[in-house]
Amino acid sequence: MFLYLCNMTELLIKNTTLVQVREHNTSILKGELLRELPILENAWIRCQDDRILDFGTMDSCPPDHGHVMDAKGRFVFPSWCDSHTHLVFAAYREQEFVQRISGMSYAEIAAKGGGILNSARRLRAMSEAELFQAAHQRLDQLIKSGTGAIEIKSGYGLSAEGELKMLRVIKKLKKVSPIPIKASFLGAHALPKAFKENREGYMNLLINELLPIIAKEELADYVDIFCEKGFYSVAEAAEMMAAGNKYGLRAKIHTNQFNSMGGIQAAIAHNALSVDHLEVVNEAEILALTNSNVIPTLLPSAPFFLQDHYPPARQLIDAGLPVTLASDFNPGTSPSGKMAFVVALACIKMKMLPNEAINAATLNGAAAMELENDYGSITKGKKANLFITQPMPSIAYLPYGFTEEIVDQVIVNGQLLSKALV
Ligand code: NIG
Ligand code: FE
Repeated sequence: MFLYLCNMTELLIKNTTLVQVREHNTSILKGELLRELPILENAWIRCQDDRILDFGTMDSCPPDHGHVMDAKGRFVFPSWCDSHTHLVFAAYREQEFVQRISGMSYAEIAAKGGGILNSARRLRAMSEAELFQAAHQRLDQLIKSGTGAIEIKSGYGLSAEGELKMLRVIKKLKKVSPIPIKASFLGAHALPKAFKENREGYMNLLINELLPIIAKEELADYVDIFCEKGFYSVAEAAEMMAAGNKYGLRAKIHTNQFNSMGGIQAAIAHNALSVDHLEVVNEAEILALTNSNVIPTLLPSAPFFLQDHYPPARQLIDAGLPVTLASDFNPGTSPSGKMAFVVALACIKMKMLPNEAINAATLNGAAAMELENDYGSITKGKKANLFITQPMPSIAYLPYGFTEEIVDQVIVNGQLLSKALV
Protein backbone atom coordinates (compact mmCIF):
# COMPACT_ATOMS: atom_id res chain seq x y z
CA MET A 1 0.00 0.00 0.00
CA PHE A 2 1.38 3.40 -0.96
CA LEU A 3 -0.71 5.33 1.48
CA TYR A 4 0.36 5.69 5.03
CA LEU A 5 -2.57 5.95 7.37
CA CYS A 6 -1.91 7.15 10.90
CA ASN A 7 -3.00 4.46 13.28
CA MET A 8 -5.77 5.84 15.45
CA THR A 9 -8.72 4.28 17.19
CA GLU A 10 -10.29 7.58 18.20
CA LEU A 11 -10.32 10.87 16.38
CA LEU A 12 -11.94 14.07 17.61
CA ILE A 13 -12.16 17.09 15.30
CA LYS A 14 -13.18 20.32 17.00
CA ASN A 15 -14.17 23.81 15.85
CA THR A 16 -15.43 22.81 12.46
CA THR A 17 -18.44 23.18 10.20
CA LEU A 18 -19.82 19.77 9.28
CA VAL A 19 -21.24 19.53 5.78
CA GLN A 20 -23.84 17.02 4.58
CA VAL A 21 -25.11 15.99 8.02
CA ARG A 22 -27.94 13.46 7.65
CA GLU A 23 -30.10 11.00 9.47
CA HIS A 24 -29.27 7.39 8.79
CA ASN A 25 -32.02 6.48 6.38
CA THR A 26 -31.73 9.47 4.03
CA SER A 27 -32.10 8.06 0.55
CA ILE A 28 -31.05 9.48 -2.79
CA LEU A 29 -31.88 13.18 -3.21
CA LYS A 30 -34.25 14.09 -6.01
CA GLY A 31 -35.21 17.39 -7.63
CA GLU A 32 -35.56 20.27 -5.21
CA LEU A 33 -34.27 18.20 -2.28
CA LEU A 34 -30.86 18.49 -3.94
CA ARG A 35 -30.80 22.13 -2.90
CA GLU A 36 -30.72 21.30 0.78
CA LEU A 37 -27.27 20.64 2.10
CA PRO A 38 -27.58 20.35 5.87
CA ILE A 39 -24.66 21.78 7.82
CA LEU A 40 -23.76 21.99 11.49
CA GLU A 41 -21.71 25.04 12.41
CA ASN A 42 -19.37 25.45 15.37
CA ALA A 43 -19.26 21.69 15.66
CA TRP A 44 -17.20 18.68 16.67
CA ILE A 45 -17.13 15.17 15.26
CA ARG A 46 -15.81 12.00 16.82
CA CYS A 47 -14.77 8.87 14.96
CA GLN A 48 -14.10 5.51 16.55
CA ASP A 49 -12.23 2.83 14.64
CA ASP A 50 -13.52 3.20 11.08
CA ARG A 51 -16.92 4.77 11.84
CA ILE A 52 -18.46 8.11 12.73
CA LEU A 53 -19.39 7.76 16.36
CA ASP A 54 -21.01 11.07 17.18
CA PHE A 55 -21.07 14.80 16.50
CA GLY A 56 -22.62 17.93 17.93
CA THR A 57 -22.11 21.61 18.59
CA MET A 58 -19.13 22.89 20.55
CA ASP A 59 -21.20 23.59 23.67
CA SER A 60 -21.50 19.82 24.05
CA CYS A 61 -17.96 18.93 23.00
CA PRO A 62 -16.65 15.82 24.77
CA PRO A 63 -13.31 16.02 26.65
CA ASP A 64 -10.16 15.50 24.60
CA HIS A 65 -9.56 11.82 23.95
CA GLY A 66 -7.52 9.96 21.36
CA HIS A 67 -6.19 12.01 18.46
CA VAL A 68 -7.57 15.56 18.72
CA MET A 69 -7.57 18.05 15.84
CA ASP A 70 -8.57 21.69 15.89
CA ALA A 71 -10.06 22.47 12.47
CA LYS A 72 -9.95 26.20 13.27
CA GLY A 73 -13.23 26.80 11.51
CA ARG A 74 -12.47 24.78 8.40
CA PHE A 75 -15.12 22.51 6.90
CA VAL A 76 -15.43 18.73 7.21
CA PHE A 77 -17.09 17.04 4.23
CA PRO A 78 -17.98 13.39 3.62
CA SER A 79 -15.59 12.07 0.96
CA TRP A 80 -16.58 12.20 -2.69
CA CYS A 81 -18.33 9.12 -4.05
CA ASP A 82 -17.23 8.66 -7.67
CA SER A 83 -19.63 6.22 -9.30
CA HIS A 84 -18.15 6.11 -12.83
CA THR A 85 -14.46 5.68 -13.67
CA HIS A 86 -12.19 3.79 -16.04
CA LEU A 87 -9.29 3.92 -13.60
CA VAL A 88 -7.54 0.81 -14.94
CA PHE A 89 -5.76 1.62 -18.21
CA ALA A 90 -2.33 1.15 -19.71
CA ALA A 91 -1.43 4.64 -20.86
CA TYR A 92 -2.68 8.18 -21.29
CA ARG A 93 -3.66 9.28 -24.83
CA GLU A 94 -2.31 12.79 -25.11
CA GLN A 95 -1.53 12.32 -28.82
CA GLU A 96 -5.26 12.07 -29.53
CA PHE A 97 -5.74 15.22 -27.50
CA VAL A 98 -3.39 16.95 -29.94
CA GLN A 99 -5.24 15.41 -32.92
CA ARG A 100 -8.48 16.81 -31.59
CA ILE A 101 -6.96 20.25 -31.14
CA SER A 102 -5.91 19.96 -34.78
CA GLY A 103 -9.50 19.36 -35.85
CA MET A 104 -10.30 15.63 -35.67
CA SER A 105 -13.37 14.58 -33.72
CA TYR A 106 -13.53 11.88 -31.04
CA ALA A 107 -15.62 9.74 -33.42
CA GLU A 108 -13.17 10.20 -36.30
CA ILE A 109 -10.23 9.21 -34.14
CA ALA A 110 -12.16 6.17 -32.90
CA ALA A 111 -13.14 5.17 -36.47
CA LYS A 112 -9.44 5.21 -37.45
CA GLY A 113 -8.53 2.70 -34.75
CA GLY A 114 -7.64 5.27 -32.09
CA GLY A 115 -9.67 5.91 -28.98
CA ILE A 116 -10.83 2.87 -27.06
CA LEU A 117 -9.13 0.50 -29.54
CA ASN A 118 -5.84 2.33 -28.96
CA SER A 119 -6.23 1.79 -25.21
CA ALA A 120 -7.02 -1.89 -25.87
CA ARG A 121 -3.83 -2.35 -27.89
CA ARG A 122 -1.74 -0.80 -25.15
CA LEU A 123 -3.45 -2.81 -22.48
CA ARG A 124 -2.72 -6.04 -24.30
CA ALA A 125 0.98 -5.25 -24.14
CA MET A 126 0.96 -4.65 -20.40
CA SER A 127 1.22 -7.34 -17.76
CA GLU A 128 -1.39 -7.72 -15.05
CA ALA A 129 1.18 -6.72 -12.44
CA GLU A 130 2.14 -3.51 -14.27
CA LEU A 131 -1.48 -2.65 -14.86
CA PHE A 132 -2.25 -3.19 -11.19
CA GLN A 133 0.61 -0.99 -10.08
CA ALA A 134 -0.35 1.88 -12.37
CA ALA A 135 -3.98 1.72 -11.29
CA HIS A 136 -3.01 1.49 -7.64
CA GLN A 137 -0.97 4.68 -7.93
CA ARG A 138 -3.89 6.47 -9.58
CA LEU A 139 -6.23 5.23 -6.86
CA ASP A 140 -3.91 6.64 -4.20
CA GLN A 141 -3.90 10.01 -5.93
CA LEU A 142 -7.69 10.02 -6.04
CA ILE A 143 -7.95 9.14 -2.37
CA LYS A 144 -5.63 12.04 -1.62
CA SER A 145 -7.93 14.31 -3.62
CA GLY A 146 -10.87 13.35 -1.40
CA THR A 147 -12.48 10.38 -3.14
CA GLY A 148 -13.76 7.92 -0.56
CA ALA A 149 -15.69 5.36 -2.68
CA ILE A 150 -15.28 4.52 -6.34
CA GLU A 151 -16.58 2.45 -9.23
CA ILE A 152 -14.11 1.09 -11.80
CA LYS A 153 -14.93 -0.40 -15.20
CA SER A 154 -13.24 -2.89 -17.46
CA GLY A 155 -13.59 -2.17 -21.19
CA TYR A 156 -10.07 -1.73 -22.49
CA GLY A 157 -9.51 -5.47 -22.73
CA LEU A 158 -11.95 -6.20 -25.57
CA SER A 159 -10.99 -9.87 -25.60
CA ALA A 160 -11.65 -12.67 -23.15
CA GLU A 161 -8.10 -12.49 -21.88
CA GLY A 162 -7.96 -8.68 -21.73
CA GLU A 163 -11.30 -8.20 -20.02
CA LEU A 164 -10.53 -10.85 -17.41
CA LYS A 165 -7.12 -9.28 -16.86
CA MET A 166 -8.74 -5.91 -16.17
CA LEU A 167 -11.39 -7.36 -13.89
CA ARG A 168 -8.77 -9.30 -11.95
CA VAL A 169 -6.78 -6.10 -11.50
CA ILE A 170 -9.91 -4.42 -10.14
CA LYS A 171 -10.53 -7.38 -7.81
CA LYS A 172 -6.96 -7.07 -6.51
CA LEU A 173 -7.43 -3.35 -6.02
CA LYS A 174 -10.55 -4.12 -3.98
CA LYS A 175 -8.44 -6.29 -1.69
CA VAL A 176 -5.81 -3.63 -0.94
CA SER A 177 -7.88 -0.49 -1.20
CA PRO A 178 -8.86 1.33 1.98
CA ILE A 179 -11.93 2.68 0.15
CA PRO A 180 -14.74 0.56 -1.31
CA ILE A 181 -14.57 -0.27 -5.01
CA LYS A 182 -17.41 -1.48 -7.22
CA ALA A 183 -16.49 -3.22 -10.47
CA SER A 184 -18.39 -3.00 -13.75
CA PHE A 185 -17.93 -5.33 -16.70
CA LEU A 186 -17.74 -3.16 -19.82
CA GLY A 187 -16.69 -5.75 -22.37
CA ALA A 188 -19.03 -4.02 -24.84
CA HIS A 189 -17.11 -0.74 -24.91
CA ALA A 190 -15.99 -0.83 -28.55
CA LEU A 191 -16.09 -3.58 -31.15
CA PRO A 192 -12.65 -5.23 -31.33
CA LYS A 193 -11.02 -5.40 -34.74
CA ALA A 194 -10.98 -9.20 -34.73
CA PHE A 195 -14.81 -9.15 -34.64
CA LYS A 196 -15.33 -6.36 -37.16
CA GLU A 197 -17.47 -8.57 -39.37
CA ASN A 198 -18.92 -10.60 -36.54
CA ARG A 199 -20.73 -8.49 -33.95
CA GLU A 200 -22.87 -11.42 -32.82
CA GLY A 201 -19.72 -13.44 -32.26
CA TYR A 202 -18.36 -10.83 -29.87
CA MET A 203 -21.67 -10.43 -28.02
CA ASN A 204 -21.80 -14.19 -27.76
CA LEU A 205 -18.28 -14.25 -26.30
CA LEU A 206 -19.18 -11.59 -23.73
CA ILE A 207 -22.50 -13.08 -22.73
CA ASN A 208 -22.04 -16.82 -23.03
CA GLU A 209 -18.35 -17.24 -22.28
CA LEU A 210 -17.25 -14.33 -20.12
CA LEU A 211 -20.28 -13.58 -17.97
CA PRO A 212 -20.40 -17.09 -16.46
CA ILE A 213 -16.70 -16.83 -15.50
CA ILE A 214 -17.17 -13.30 -14.16
CA ALA A 215 -20.13 -14.41 -12.07
CA LYS A 216 -18.36 -17.50 -10.78
CA GLU A 217 -15.19 -15.65 -9.83
CA GLU A 218 -17.16 -12.64 -8.54
CA LEU A 219 -15.25 -10.31 -10.80
CA ALA A 220 -17.97 -7.70 -11.27
CA ASP A 221 -20.82 -6.03 -9.45
CA TYR A 222 -22.44 -4.47 -12.53
CA VAL A 223 -22.58 -4.71 -16.32
CA ASP A 224 -22.06 -1.74 -18.59
CA ILE A 225 -22.24 -1.16 -22.37
CA PHE A 226 -21.45 1.84 -24.55
CA CYS A 227 -24.85 2.33 -26.21
CA GLU A 228 -24.02 4.82 -28.95
CA LYS A 229 -23.88 5.17 -32.74
CA GLY A 230 -20.71 3.51 -33.98
CA PHE A 231 -20.47 1.41 -30.81
CA TYR A 232 -23.41 -0.70 -29.55
CA SER A 233 -27.10 -0.62 -30.46
CA VAL A 234 -30.06 -0.44 -28.12
CA ALA A 235 -30.88 -4.07 -28.93
CA GLU A 236 -27.35 -5.10 -27.94
CA ALA A 237 -27.58 -3.02 -24.78
CA ALA A 238 -30.86 -4.74 -23.92
CA GLU A 239 -29.29 -8.13 -24.53
CA MET A 240 -26.31 -7.31 -22.31
CA MET A 241 -28.48 -5.95 -19.51
CA ALA A 242 -30.78 -8.96 -19.61
CA ALA A 243 -27.77 -11.29 -19.49
CA GLY A 244 -26.27 -9.35 -16.58
CA ASN A 245 -29.55 -9.51 -14.69
CA LYS A 246 -29.57 -13.28 -15.10
CA TYR A 247 -26.37 -13.37 -13.07
CA GLY A 248 -27.58 -10.83 -10.53
CA LEU A 249 -25.55 -7.99 -12.05
CA ARG A 250 -27.50 -4.78 -12.50
CA ALA A 251 -26.60 -2.40 -15.29
CA LYS A 252 -24.91 0.97 -15.23
CA ILE A 253 -24.73 1.99 -18.86
CA HIS A 254 -23.06 4.61 -21.03
CA THR A 255 -25.80 6.17 -23.09
CA ASN A 256 -26.88 9.43 -24.75
CA GLN A 257 -23.35 10.81 -24.89
CA PHE A 258 -23.62 11.87 -28.55
CA ASN A 259 -27.03 10.57 -29.68
CA SER A 260 -30.41 9.77 -28.27
CA MET A 261 -31.27 6.26 -29.49
CA GLY A 262 -33.45 4.66 -26.84
CA GLY A 263 -30.76 3.47 -24.42
CA ILE A 264 -32.47 5.16 -21.51
CA GLN A 265 -35.79 3.40 -22.11
CA ALA A 266 -33.99 0.07 -22.45
CA ALA A 267 -32.12 0.72 -19.19
CA ILE A 268 -35.38 1.47 -17.40
CA ALA A 269 -36.95 -1.70 -18.79
CA HIS A 270 -34.01 -3.71 -17.43
CA ASN A 271 -33.99 -2.20 -13.95
CA ALA A 272 -30.62 -0.53 -14.44
CA LEU A 273 -29.02 1.24 -11.50
CA SER A 274 -27.88 4.23 -13.53
CA VAL A 275 -27.70 5.78 -16.99
CA ASP A 276 -24.51 7.73 -17.41
CA HIS A 277 -23.55 10.70 -19.66
CA LEU A 278 -26.87 12.15 -20.98
CA GLU A 279 -25.26 15.00 -22.88
CA VAL A 280 -28.05 14.46 -25.43
CA VAL A 281 -31.40 13.74 -23.83
CA ASN A 282 -34.95 14.55 -24.96
CA GLU A 283 -38.17 15.29 -23.11
CA ALA A 284 -39.63 11.81 -23.56
CA GLU A 285 -36.50 10.31 -22.02
CA ILE A 286 -36.62 12.73 -19.10
CA LEU A 287 -40.26 11.85 -18.55
CA ALA A 288 -39.45 8.15 -18.68
CA LEU A 289 -36.71 8.65 -16.08
CA THR A 290 -39.10 10.45 -13.73
CA ASN A 291 -41.28 7.35 -13.72
CA SER A 292 -38.35 5.08 -12.84
CA ASN A 293 -35.70 4.52 -10.19
CA VAL A 294 -32.81 4.74 -12.64
CA ILE A 295 -30.20 7.29 -11.57
CA PRO A 296 -29.12 9.88 -14.15
CA THR A 297 -25.36 10.30 -13.72
CA LEU A 298 -23.67 13.27 -15.36
CA LEU A 299 -19.97 13.36 -16.21
CA PRO A 300 -19.15 16.99 -17.05
CA SER A 301 -15.39 16.43 -17.33
CA ALA A 302 -16.00 14.56 -20.62
CA PRO A 303 -17.81 17.36 -22.50
CA PHE A 304 -15.35 19.81 -20.96
CA PHE A 305 -12.42 17.87 -22.37
CA LEU A 306 -14.10 17.11 -25.72
CA GLN A 307 -15.48 20.66 -26.07
CA ASP A 308 -18.90 19.09 -26.43
CA HIS A 309 -22.15 20.35 -24.97
CA TYR A 310 -23.12 19.59 -21.41
CA PRO A 311 -26.05 17.54 -20.11
CA PRO A 312 -29.13 19.66 -19.28
CA ALA A 313 -28.65 19.31 -15.55
CA ARG A 314 -31.15 22.04 -14.68
CA GLN A 315 -33.88 20.44 -16.76
CA LEU A 316 -33.20 17.06 -15.14
CA ILE A 317 -33.26 18.48 -11.63
CA ASP A 318 -36.33 20.59 -12.33
CA ALA A 319 -38.05 17.41 -13.53
CA GLY A 320 -37.47 16.00 -10.04
CA LEU A 321 -34.66 13.59 -10.89
CA PRO A 322 -31.86 12.38 -8.57
CA VAL A 323 -29.01 13.86 -10.60
CA THR A 324 -25.64 12.39 -9.71
CA LEU A 325 -22.11 13.51 -10.63
CA ALA A 326 -19.06 11.36 -11.36
CA SER A 327 -15.63 11.89 -12.93
CA ASP A 328 -15.54 9.38 -15.84
CA PHE A 329 -11.78 9.28 -15.24
CA ASN A 330 -10.33 7.72 -18.43
CA PRO A 331 -7.44 8.40 -20.81
CA GLY A 332 -9.62 9.39 -23.78
CA THR A 333 -12.29 11.80 -22.65
CA SER A 334 -11.55 12.72 -19.04
CA PRO A 335 -7.94 12.33 -17.92
CA SER A 336 -8.82 13.55 -14.45
CA GLY A 337 -10.60 11.95 -11.54
CA LYS A 338 -10.77 15.09 -9.45
CA MET A 339 -14.24 15.29 -8.03
CA ALA A 340 -13.78 18.86 -6.75
CA PHE A 341 -13.29 19.88 -10.37
CA VAL A 342 -16.38 17.90 -11.42
CA VAL A 343 -18.37 19.82 -8.81
CA ALA A 344 -16.93 23.11 -10.08
CA LEU A 345 -17.79 22.23 -13.70
CA ALA A 346 -21.32 21.25 -12.68
CA CYS A 347 -21.80 24.73 -11.23
CA ILE A 348 -19.93 26.71 -13.89
CA LYS A 349 -21.12 24.85 -16.98
CA MET A 350 -24.40 23.20 -15.99
CA LYS A 351 -25.80 25.85 -13.63
CA MET A 352 -26.08 23.47 -10.72
CA LEU A 353 -26.03 25.26 -7.38
CA PRO A 354 -23.05 24.42 -5.15
CA ASN A 355 -25.37 22.61 -2.73
CA GLU A 356 -26.86 20.54 -5.56
CA ALA A 357 -23.47 19.63 -6.98
CA ILE A 358 -22.09 18.60 -3.59
CA ASN A 359 -25.14 16.44 -2.88
CA ALA A 360 -24.82 14.89 -6.35
CA ALA A 361 -21.14 14.06 -5.77
CA THR A 362 -21.55 12.59 -2.31
CA LEU A 363 -24.85 11.02 -1.20
CA ASN A 364 -26.21 10.46 -4.70
CA GLY A 365 -22.86 9.12 -5.88
CA ALA A 366 -22.96 6.61 -3.03
CA ALA A 367 -26.48 5.56 -4.09
CA ALA A 368 -25.26 5.06 -7.67
CA MET A 369 -22.93 2.39 -6.23
CA GLU A 370 -25.50 1.04 -3.72
CA LEU A 371 -23.22 2.25 -0.93
CA GLU A 372 -25.52 4.86 0.58
CA ASN A 373 -25.93 2.99 3.85
CA ASP A 374 -22.25 3.43 4.67
CA TYR A 375 -20.97 6.38 2.66
CA GLY A 376 -21.92 9.75 1.23
CA SER A 377 -22.90 11.74 4.33
CA ILE A 378 -21.88 12.63 7.84
CA THR A 379 -24.15 10.25 9.67
CA LYS A 380 -23.65 8.41 12.94
CA GLY A 381 -22.58 4.86 12.21
CA LYS A 382 -21.44 5.50 8.65
CA LYS A 383 -17.82 4.96 7.64
CA ALA A 384 -15.55 7.82 8.63
CA ASN A 385 -14.39 8.76 5.12
CA LEU A 386 -14.08 12.52 5.31
CA PHE A 387 -11.97 15.43 4.21
CA ILE A 388 -11.08 18.70 5.86
CA THR A 389 -10.91 21.72 3.58
CA GLN A 390 -8.43 24.53 3.38
CA PRO A 391 -9.70 27.65 5.11
CA MET A 392 -12.52 29.03 2.94
CA PRO A 393 -15.23 31.60 3.60
CA SER A 394 -18.24 29.49 2.62
CA ILE A 395 -19.26 26.24 0.92
CA ALA A 396 -19.79 28.05 -2.39
CA TYR A 397 -16.07 28.82 -2.39
CA LEU A 398 -15.32 25.15 -3.15
CA PRO A 399 -16.58 25.27 -6.77
CA TYR A 400 -15.74 28.98 -7.07
CA GLY A 401 -12.05 28.45 -6.33
CA PHE A 402 -11.89 25.84 -9.08
CA THR A 403 -8.13 25.55 -9.38
CA GLU A 404 -7.43 25.56 -5.66
CA GLU A 405 -6.52 22.46 -3.71
CA ILE A 406 -9.50 22.85 -1.41
CA VAL A 407 -9.22 19.32 -0.03
CA ASP A 408 -6.53 19.62 2.62
CA GLN A 409 -6.57 16.63 4.98
CA VAL A 410 -8.14 13.29 4.24
CA ILE A 411 -9.60 10.76 6.66
CA VAL A 412 -10.22 7.21 5.49
CA ASN A 413 -11.83 4.63 7.76
CA GLY A 414 -11.32 6.99 10.69
CA GLN A 415 -7.59 7.23 9.95
CA LEU A 416 -5.91 10.48 9.04
CA LEU A 417 -3.83 10.25 5.88
CA SER A 418 -0.30 11.13 6.75
CA LYS A 419 0.28 14.75 5.74
CA ALA A 420 3.90 13.99 4.99
CA LEU A 421 2.93 11.73 2.13
CA VAL A 422 -0.06 13.62 0.82
O1 NIG B 1 -17.13 7.39 -20.74
N1 NIG B 1 -17.88 6.85 -23.73
C1 NIG B 1 -17.25 5.82 -23.63
N2 NIG B 1 -16.31 5.57 -22.77
C2 NIG B 1 -15.51 6.55 -22.14
C3 NIG B 1 -14.41 7.00 -23.02
C4 NIG B 1 -13.44 5.92 -23.25
C5 NIG B 1 -12.22 6.29 -23.99
O2 NIG B 1 -12.22 7.16 -24.91
O3 NIG B 1 -11.21 5.69 -23.67
C6 NIG B 1 -16.37 7.67 -21.63
O4 NIG B 1 -16.30 8.83 -22.06
FE1 FE C 1 -17.19 6.33 -19.08
